[in-house]
Amino acid sequence: MGKIPLLNLERQYQEIREQAEQAVCEVLASGKYIMGENVRSFEAEFAQYIGVEHAVSVANGTDALVIALKALGIGEGDEVITTPYTFFATAEAISFVGAVPVFVDVYLNTYNMDVSQIEAKITEKTKAIMPVHIFGLCADMQSINAIARKHGLYVIEDACQAAGAIYHGVKAGALADIACFSFFPTKNLGCAGDGGIITTNDEKTATICKAFRTHGSGEMGEKAYNILHGIDADVEEDASADNTVYNPKKYYNYLVGHNSRLDEVQAALLRIKLRKLDAYIENRRKAAKRYTEALAGKYIVPVEEEGNLHAYHLYILQTEDRRQVISALEKAGIAAGVYYPVPLHLQKCYKDLGYQAGGLPNAEYLSHRTFAIPMFPEIRDDEIERVIQALEEV
Ligand SMILES: Cc1ncc(COP(=O)(O)O)c(C=O)c1O
Repeated sequence: MGKIPLLNLERQYQEIREQAEQAVCEVLASGKYIMGENVRSFEAEFAQYIGVEHAVSVANGTDALVIALKALGIGEGDEVITTPYTFFATAEAISFVGAVPVFVDVYLNTYNMDVSQIEAKITEKTKAIMPVHIFGLCADMQSINAIARKHGLYVIEDACQAAGAIYHGVKAGALADIACFSFFPTKNLGCAGDGGIITTNDEKTATICKAFRTHGSGEMGEKAYNILHGIDADVEEDASADNTVYNPKKYYNYLVGHNSRLDEVQAALLRIKLRKLDAYIENRRKAAKRYTEALAGKYIVPVEEEGNLHAYHLYILQTEDRRQVISALEKAGIAAGVYYPVPLHLQKCYKDLGYQAGGLPNAEYLSHRTFAIPMFPEIRDDEIERVIQALEEV
């Protein structure tokens, strides 16, 4: 019997192989590798899929978070309230711009930010709240947006794990001021390398993000500079400028930015996969439904909230004795993963923030109990049943 991996990207590739190889070869033959037609089209298609006005592609999800924070003017001396139960990049991006991540605990059932703890952490330095839709389930955005409105704060969605999730009829990525996605290969929508995107309805914010992704230079750089300095002036545009390869203002820098672009090969692949994303999510949900049905008696299973459509980036279970369960799965040839063994407030690099063990008890408790089992759109029924059987036999 073959092994069952946590996810199987080869299987996904085989399904789109012909289209993917044709699209990649076309890019290679075109000689246009940066900021071409595929990037432009993918941005428009992704914006339409999410239901926002603007999508600005970047090199990865971490850069998306950094650039989004910078575009909102968040930096040195500011505080951003977020969750400790997430991938490190969430807090890393906040630290990278010079701001301080302020952690609130999470719920034991959804693993998302406990919104009842947010207001107590707001100070005059707080600029934003950054919820993470962890494992593909949206945070309580109605409450988070209400708190943000009351206190004049921005809300930045870390939607890196939640492409395709829907919250009360609205897609993750259209639920706040700005949102960030990762196209790391393991994500719901993954490319063949690194990639990311920022979504927003605010044109000025989108322009500033576009400027930051290419060194703050070119026409976008000048437009962003004018926005940030309250200058009401037209920026001369060159119809043939693509803001990267050819641009008369390429060597004129208006902001200190980044080199953070999605490339044409990745955009071409993402355009193919975006058309399949809803079907991918449907398959993930089908697998999750079967897991939950079979395992709810023995393990704590993910919650399904009314109106909050879980995209099941990961399928997470809780158990008293994680080590025993994972080793039994291993013996049965089934992969398992631990997300996340150390909550961010207890990471060594954040020692100076002053959190102690016991400070955020739910995140700490979960970090000892949770584990992920195989979950990917192409998982077969026989594989699902094998995973269930192995978990039942532990
Ligand atoms: C919640 C979360 N935030 C941010 C990131 C960073 O994305 P990337 O790896 O594309 O930089 C990831 C994924 O890796 C993530 O899961």
